[in-house]
Amino acid sequence: MRGNNMKTEENSHEHQVQEQLIRAGKELAGKGLVSGRSGNISIRLMTGNILISATHTFLGMLELDDLIEIDFDGRAVGEGKAPSSERFLHMEIYKARPDVHAIVHTHSVHASAYAFLDRPLRSVNYENDLVLGEVPIVSYAQPGTIEFARSACEGLGNKAAALLQRHGTVAVGEDIFDALAVAELLEDVAKVNYLIDTLSK
Ligand code: 13P
Repeated sequence: MRGNNMKTEENSHEHQVQEQLIRAGKELAGKGLVSGRSGNISIRLMTGNILISATHTFLGMLELDDLIEIDFDGRAVGEGKAPSSERFLHMEIYKARPDVHAIVHTHSVHASAYAFLDRPLRSVNYENDLVLGEVPIVSYAQPGTIEFARSACEGLGNKAAALLQRHGTVAVGEDIFDALAVAELLEDVAKVNYLIDTLSK
């Protein structure tokens, strides 16, 4: 009986997580933080596995079969579409950060430009100080590789977000809305930095 209750709890948790990922994908696309088939998102499940977006999907149009369960080695559990090519990035962060329950990876435009230039973002407000602090910039490595995943995870350290050179951003949180808020804040901070750089010329 106890086993049945546990299964029911896991199923309802997974259902909730699926809904959250679909909502988060729409939010990211709606706010212009991802475009085309870029970006990927994931949530840590109660079982310890991860639910992640499938590779090559439009995050704004996620369907249930675009949400892929993977184990801690990044292997898909069951049949279906292939998981995101950035699953190692997500897995390395989940392994290193027990406090992280959700991850958002974007190519948001302004943040990507600062990452490209390897130019640190100035902190532009109190929320920025509190949530992001100094945002690390991770040197370029081939996306999708374990080497990239490890260096990004190391670069992120205990921070909420990092800039990834010639690639984009990664934002983490206690839940998906937290990670989403971090990704939005990071892009806003990059926009303000851009305006400061432009206006002060
Ligand atoms: P996936 O479609 O494999 O998740 O990759 C998208 C992406 O943004 C790679 O950086």
